[in-house]
Amino acid sequence: MQNKLTIASMALVVVASITGCRGSTSELPPIHPNPNMDQQWRVDRQEPDDFFPDRRGMRPRVLGTMSHGALAETDAGQEHLWEGKIDGEWTDELPEGITLDAALIDRGEERYGIYCTPCHGATGVGNGMAVQRGYAIPQSFTEPRLRAYPLGRIVYTLKYGAGNMPNYHTQIQVKDRWAIASYVRALQISQVADAKMVPADKRAGLTGGK
Ligand code: HEC
Repeated sequence: MQNKLTIASMALVVVASITGCRGSTSELPPIHPNPNMDQQWRVDRQEPDDFFPDRRGMRPRVLGTMSHGALAETDAGQEHLWEGKIDGEWTDELPEGITLDAALIDRGEERYGIYCTPCHGATGVGNGMAVQRGYAIPQSFTEPRLRAYPLGRIVYTLKYGAGNMPNYHTQIQVKDRWAIASYVRALQISQVADAKMVPADKRAGLTGGK
């Protein structure tokens, strides 16, 4: 009898201690038996930080440094890469660090497929799905006017847009703009190709063409 009473009262204490605090509020953070990495130390804006002698958590940029990979578009010598121009004139030359090879064209083809086909269509004639559904019809890339565009002018168009065409500078990294421009050039050539452009040993078996 004595034992049963003890067990019952102990059980009561346990139940009360588990349920007793439910519903009450507290200023203290909840008990977190297994913190994992839920709460980590960090410095918030304007917070002090004892690590530095001046106790300022927000640090000024170290004099004479700049962040990696973020050359300002407006810096001298950046005109070629960002604007597609050399000394104020659109250029057909690729900027330093970008080489014309199969990898560049492949990358351009892939990016073109993502960003340009909706309007310009897979072959560049201007029959993309958005156009079929009512968007302004762009000229075909094979038009003499656009065939005469230097690569830089295509890159420039991607940065600033043109007429009814929106710009793409936030979506497409600058190097990819050159890859896309090179692919547009490949598309243009492919549409007006002359059999003489094919190496002699590969001409046999060609159909169509001149
Ligand atoms: C939302 C539809 C749309 C998309 C997407 C689009 N374009 Fe265009 N693009 C147009 C239209 C419309 C024009 C014709 C602009 C005009 O003359 O008003 C045009 C014109 C152009 C021109 C000629 C500009 C000029 O000076 O006449 C180039 C070059 C071009 N686009 C390249 C591209 C490339 C490369 C992409 C992919 C990154 C692309 N466009 C994506 C709609 C689009």
